[in-house]
Amino acid sequence: MNALSSISRGAVSSWRSQNRAQRLLRIFLSVTWIYAGWDKASDPGFLTQGESTFIGTQLAAYAQSSPISFLLNHTIEHATQVGIFVMVAEFAIGIATLLSVAPTTAAFGGFAMATGLWLSSSFNVSPYFLASDSAYAILWLTYLLLLIGNRRMPATNFQRRNVFRTAIVAALAAGAALVGRAVSPSNAASSTNRAAKSSGKKIVKLSALPVGATFNFIHSSQGVPSLLFRTKKGVFAYSAICTHQGCTVAYKSSTKKLVCPCHGAEFDPMNSAKVISDPAETPLAKVAVKVSGAWVVEA
Ligand code: FES
Repeated sequence: MNALSSISRGAVSSWRSQNRAQRLLRIFLSVTWIYAGWDKASDPGFLTQGESTFIGTQLAAYAQSSPISFLLNHTIEHATQVGIFVMVAEFAIGIATLLSVAPTTAAFGGFAMATGLWLSSSFNVSPYFLASDSAYAILWLTYLLLLIGNRRMPATNFQRRNVFRTAIVAALAAGAALVGRAVSPSNAASSTNRAAKSSGKKIVKLSALPVGATFNFIHSSQGVPSLLFRTKKGVFAYSAICTHQGCTVAYKSSTKKLVCPCHGAEFDPMNSAKVISDPAETPLAKVAVKVSGAWVVEA
């Protein structure tokens, strides 16, 4: 109880010592980070291999063009642990900032996380001002510098070694993540919603895809790298996300196989993307496509 009343006293006194600009930044950033954690925790696909919003799928897609792809490729193998860490860290940073527990550490964490997201997912967005991650990195850095420069700010950071308050924030973050997982809708329901949203989206003109050709595309609502095939029998497509640990497979025309660069799994695109070589055990996920007029579209 002492730790709880100490947290609330610290939150109130730090709030009073801040000017309006600092309060605005504090509220906006903390609420946004808590919401980001909740968004992941309540997403049934975020920690589920094979789902389009699976963290491993996202990391694999980012690794295609990120300047830190060498790092992302290493994290793909531990995607679930990375996802749990990111989710809990977002809650912890948001809650710590809101309650002013270790505020400079939390602000630095927010800055590091936003910078990492910018380098991973939105580095190639052009013009740059359309990428919100870079703006968040600057906002966190501004808040951090204000905290460091604010001499009147109560000493509620790690210098005081208040282990109990930090432990309570960590427990709140973990608890929020567990509640989010508990209330998330089923995978089936969310998949149905996403499918309904993307139906009819144009992929490529049929005339640009001769029989025997393949076409790489990103599924519009799921953000999944996918591979489209046209044969004499028609068109079909698969998710390019390897069912082993989430790397991105590529079509090798010399062998007519889909090959994963990470651990060598191979899939047969002409036979429902069934596994030809280990270590994957399940076929690639099918992506529904169809011909509509002069276009191949998402079905
Ligand atoms: S991720 Fe291991 S074989 Fe594809």
